[in-house]
Amino acid sequence: MSRDYRIAVVGATGAVGVEMLRVMERRNFPVKSLRLLASPRSAGRTLEFQGKDVAVEPLTINSFEGIDIALFSAGSGISKEYAHIAVESGAVVIDNSSAFRQLDSVPLVVPEVNGADVANHKGIIANPNCTTAITLMALYPLHKKFRVRRVFASSYQAVSGAGARAIEELRNQVKAVAKDAPIEREVFQHQIAFNVIPQVDSFLETGYTKEEMKMQNEGRRIMHLPTFKASVTCVRVPIYRAHSVAVSAEFERPVTLHEAREAIQAFPGVELNDDPSTSAYPMPLDYAEKDICGVGRLRLDCALENGLAFWVCGDQINKGAALNAVQIAELL
Ligand code: A2P
Repeated sequence: MSRDYRIAVVGATGAVGVEMLRVMERRNFPVKSLRLLASPRSAGRTLEFQGKDVAVEPLTINSFEGIDIALFSAGSGISKEYAHIAVESGAVVIDNSSAFRQLDSVPLVVPEVNGADVANHKGIIANPNCTTAITLMALYPLHKKFRVRRVFASSYQAVSGAGARAIEELRNQVKAVAKDAPIEREVFQHQIAFNVIPQVDSFLETGYTKEEMKMQNEGRRIMHLPTFKASVTCVRVPIYRAHSVAVSAEFERPVTLHEAREAIQAFPGVELNDDPSTSAYPMPLDYAEKDICGVGRLRLDCALENGLAFWVCGDQINKGAALNAVQIAELL
């Protein structure tokens, strides 16, 4: 039986929050009422939804009364403080932060991979890390075919993954470089325009960053594969939207290119974009603002036993965040 849902978006004014509205519009999500929540800084703002202006309200402990589904995208701190309040008010929370992703009681879901896990929720469902979600869109169909053991990967992550202010920072720095004016830094520690920064998130004692360990930690939970290993270098690159990941994966079973291509082609939410003869491969510009992820540069890995190298691109605000969250809401 279909019904309409009373939806709250926490962090509605942010890069992911705004996209959640667009995704719900695009997919005709059955919205009965919409409450847009942000910090007191956004008081007085409105955002458009289905052609109407909706006022942004400051988030308070009373914000979730009468809400069925609360989509959180205001960072871990806000999720830790307010998600349980939303659940106690009767809402199901879909959380885009890393706050609950490693809790056994919280399903961590990429709908195409482990959508059935949604049924086990106890009020909160976690949306995975963007780079992990995009990588799994290519890796999981290959895993189903060949059984993945481990991956070595490098990411090329767009600035929008660091929020709306990061997009502004890149834009301002590009303008400043063009005018030979001083560069201002606020979101990123280093200049991002015309540079790459081999650090996303903070460092752990091992020398990896927190972001880099998410592919292994979250990949294990999403694929139900506790032995999965991933050695990742996450790099911030000066592009606005869509992450790319270069992956070398080692499998238990022998890999053929033909079967690998077939597995990708048969999987929902990804397309094979791979023709060296015409220099066709996924690039972030082509996957920005798209729902689908692209996989290309498929080749047998020359340094690994049963290895396959590939390249995957996906819009991290869509598949890596807003789209995945709305897809989870659709499963509910
Ligand atoms: P605001 O725009 O009022 O600061 P992004 O990841 O793009 O930076 O977005 C972060 C989102 O989280 C924004 O919508 C931001 O609202 C929201 N946010 C930040 N701090 C708070 C807070 N203390 N309470 C509610 N929302 C917050």
